[in-house]
Amino acid sequence: MGKLIIIASGKGGTGKTTVTSHIGANLADKGYLTALVDADAGFRNLDIALGLESSIVFDYSDYINGSMEFDDILIKSPMQENLYFVAAPQSVPTADFDEERTAAFWENMKNRFDYVIADAPAGMGDGFMFAARYADEAVIVAFAETSSLRDADRVITELENLGVDMIRLVINRIKPELIESKIMMNVDDCIDVLSIPLLGIIPEDESVAVSMIKGQPLMSGEGAGKAFSNISERLAGNQVPIMSFDRFYKSGFWKKLKEIVLGR
Ligand SMILES: Nc1ncnc2c1ncn2[C@@H]1O[C@H](COP(=O)(O)OP(=O)(O)OP(=O)(O)O)[C@@H](O)[C@H]1O
Ligand SMILES: [Mg+2]
Repeated sequence: MGKLIIIASGKGGTGKTTVTSHIGANLADKGYLTALVDADAGFRNLDIALGLESSIVFDYSDYINGSMEFDDILIKSPMQENLYFVAAPQSVPTADFDEERTAAFWENMKNRFDYVIADAPAGMGDGFMFAARYADEAVIVAFAETSSLRDADRVITELENLGVDMIRLVINRIKPELIESKIMMNVDDCIDVLSIPLLGIIPEDESVAVSMIKGQPLMSGEGAGKAFSNISERLAGNQVPIMSFDRFYKSGFWKKLKEIVLGR
């Protein structure tokens, strides 16, 4: 039996879809049979991040309303052996779904795959509830800033109320230069505010945006590519140390980044 992991946030735009596509590609690359489900019905874009927008024929509403078989809604990635995708409907609200059929959908997903990763919309609306009620674990994606963490805290409380046992934090778009100059909160302070375990940190990295536009998740390298690989290892239960900023300073990565971000 596989696990359903929901990727959620309080605020929009923190990087949930980015994290979902990268975790999926990395877990599949490590040999795990992985499915990514777009829970952001109506505003779907995980298909684009995976380069699969022209491959969608059916979505999970077609299985839940009984018009298609389960296998019909699974889209196999042409680029990766172990990676599958299930699209969100564009016009059928998840709130209208039959409860039993929804439960059957998630059960089938967990039976078929090692990891099922659901890309939730921001906040605690219908798309979030569609996946959160069946989730085994959650990953909260937040920025290192007070408002992002405060909104994340409300989502964490809701997940706890729903009985999700394992809730971990990913801090995205970290800029060490700004932490050093005390403009951005440091990682320890973020963990203190939310009191949940840290799953990983992801630096601000222009190659992320490029990968999203190309529909090709990053699988290796320095910076964000390495961060996504590490996060996937930890999700799979392996011990990997949290990235050290020093290494990037030494490698010149952050010097280059400083030039890009701060223009100097
Ligand atoms: N570490 C990063 N470095 C640079 N750009 C990033 C990083 N993470 C995410 N982005 C960019 O931030 C933007 C928003 O990311 P994304 O769409 O994944 O957020 P989201 O949380 O799914 O948004 P929504 O709440 O609207 O669903 C994208 O353009 C993405 O390329
Ligand atoms: Mg998204």
